[in-house]
Amino acid sequence: MTISRRDTIIAAGVAGAALLATEAAAAVKPTKLSDLAPGQQKLVQTALDVRKKAYAPYSHFFVGAALETADGAVIPGCNVENISYGATICAERNAVFQAVAAGHTKFKTIAVVGDLPSPITPCGMCRQVLGEFGGDTQVICANLKGDTMITTVGALLPAAFNFDPSKI
Ligand code: THU
Repeated sequence: MTISRRDTIIAAGVAGAALLATEAAAAVKPTKLSDLAPGQQKLVQTALDVRKKAYAPYSHFFVGAALETADGAVIPGCNVENISYGATICAERNAVFQAVAAGHTKFKTIAVVGDLPSPITPCGMCRQVLGEFGGDTQVICANLKGDTMITTVGALLPAAFNFDPSKI
């Protein structure tokens, strides 16, 4: 029996997930927050600020996101957990849904911050939701130490599920 790369990743568990993220971001150079453009630093600061409002009594893992729309609005979002764990919403999707409710569907950049050794990358479900609005959205991943990594939704979600609804 051949063992596929996917099997290896599943067997590796969390380490495998980190491997996937590393591979997707392989072409992206790690940066420091202080090296980013002032607008990018400000977006990360908004994500850091809203992270303090995260409701995470179960995981104690607090995440902040800030979504900059094409017309320059900045919409913050934090994770909101639930005793029925599956009802939890991530910071990134919270920001996207609030943006849509405010009338925005074109996004320029999303910054996301979590307290991890390396910059946090959005989960798969958040990548899919961000991908709905375009692969070119820039993603600024950050942690509390000022490590950052800049990528795009498209780079984080290769071979995304998609179809033309008019052809169904
Ligand atoms: N979480 C986010 O808010 N964004 C991510 O990109 C990854 C995970 C949240 C969900 C949950 O409340 C906690 O972090 C632990 O998974």
